[in-house]
Amino acid sequence: MHTRVLAVSPAAIKYPPHDPTTQTPIIDPNSDTYANLQEAVAVIKSSSSSSSSNTTNTQPLVAFPTETVYGLGADARNDNAVRAIYAAKNRPADNPLIVHVSSLAQLERISGGPLPEIYVPIVKAFWPGPLTIVLPVPTTSQNSVSPLCTHGQKTFAVRMPNHPVARALIALSDTPLAAPSANLSTRPSPTSASHVYADLHDRIPLILDGGPCDVGVESTVVDGTVSPPKLLRPGGISVEQIRQQGGPLWQSIVVGSPDTSPEQVPRTPGMKYKHYSPSCPVYLFIDCPDGAQAVRETLLTQNNQNQNQDQDQNKNQNQIKLPQGKIAILTTYHFDPKAIEQTLAPTETVSRSLGVTGADISRNLFSELRHLEKTSGAAAIIVEGVPLANEGLAIMNRLTKAASHIFRKVGSQYIIEK
Ligand code: TXA
Ligand code: MG
Repeated sequence: MHTRVLAVSPAAIKYPPHDPTTQTPIIDPNSDTYANLQEAVAVIKSSSSSSSSNTTNTQPLVAFPTETVYGLGADARNDNAVRAIYAAKNRPADNPLIVHVSSLAQLERISGGPLPEIYVPIVKAFWPGPLTIVLPVPTTSQNSVSPLCTHGQKTFAVRMPNHPVARALIALSDTPLAAPSANLSTRPSPTSASHVYADLHDRIPLILDGGPCDVGVESTVVDGTVSPPKLLRPGGISVEQIRQQGGPLWQSIVVGSPDTSPEQVPRTPGMKYKHYSPSCPVYLFIDCPDGAQAVRETLLTQNNQNQNQDQDQNKNQNQIKLPQGKIAILTTYHFDPKAIEQTLAPTETVSRSLGVTGADISRNLFSELRHLEKTSGAAAIIVEGVPLANEGLAIMNRLTKAASHIFRKVGSQYIIEK
């Protein structure tokens, strides 16, 4: 299947003054953006007419930009369309999907009733935006989401994205879109159309290219159907923001560890799979000042010891032997790339900064992982962790999953956590 990439300009799409109940976009009908959005609408809508004999055989899937990451969208109410998402991504069928809506009225049509009270303050504060809520699946609603979106769970996840292109696609097609991140399963999430193309070309018919994503990590997923409410996945809205702006009911939100295990959160099946992994090993360093001593004492010492030790011990230590080839160094707040490069010499290195604010680090995280493995041809990536406050929780959740090994400095020791 040939994959078309069509450009859309977020700036060409305007909305009336903020009112989440009506999200009708205003777009010049003579613009390319409008024409390309209509192409995408036709692809999405093809799922509902696919019984007709003369329709084309392409999948009813469109990759589109959201403010977090690119999504791979299809009509959330249509079983075949949802099935096509899982197939294109190679996604395990027990990992449920987030449904995307463009108005509260549309949400009511699929949820079969008004928003539960608990969600009112956070929806008011953060929608449209990178927050996903979990709602009970209605027992009787013809327009509701396909059971394939939820893997037969009693809840479905939904959010109203804040990207003009995402909102326009949903509104113009008048279709709630099931949309996981538009990457192949296990790969880092895509934050540009070229990332989507790299993973999914020839597997989907259309990518809308609306430029790079601003937030860079996926939405925060919260569950208010349990008491106290629970954070299921850290993301673009921080727990601190939820506590600050969510009113009394959200003060007590329960937060797991950054590397939340499936046992702790059985209701977020997606968390148990291998995730966000570039094709080369990633070594994550936590609390390791400028990084030079940490790299010397963990990766290099282990390599040297390997040469002198017997087979049995080698088994374990081989796992953290640096591979041959160029080593990439990704810094955040404290790492000194020059000092680490000197430590690794004569090994070839490439150093890049993820940024020095939480927002920048989030935005650059996935794109740097993809850039380093592909453009820079790194054989391994050394990355500096960040504290868990604010954006840090979501960043560390992604990094601990991407990492093949995690090192932490405790006192004067370096502990291998993974
Ligand atoms: O920012 C985002 O959320 C992006 C963009 C495209 O909107 N989407 C995204 O989807 O990250 P995905 O499929 O990659 O991640 C969905 C997450 C998974 O961890 C999944 O297990 C969880 O949401 N999830 C979906 N439905 C759920 C439910 N009913 N209960 C609990 N967790 C659910
Ligand atoms: Mg994903």
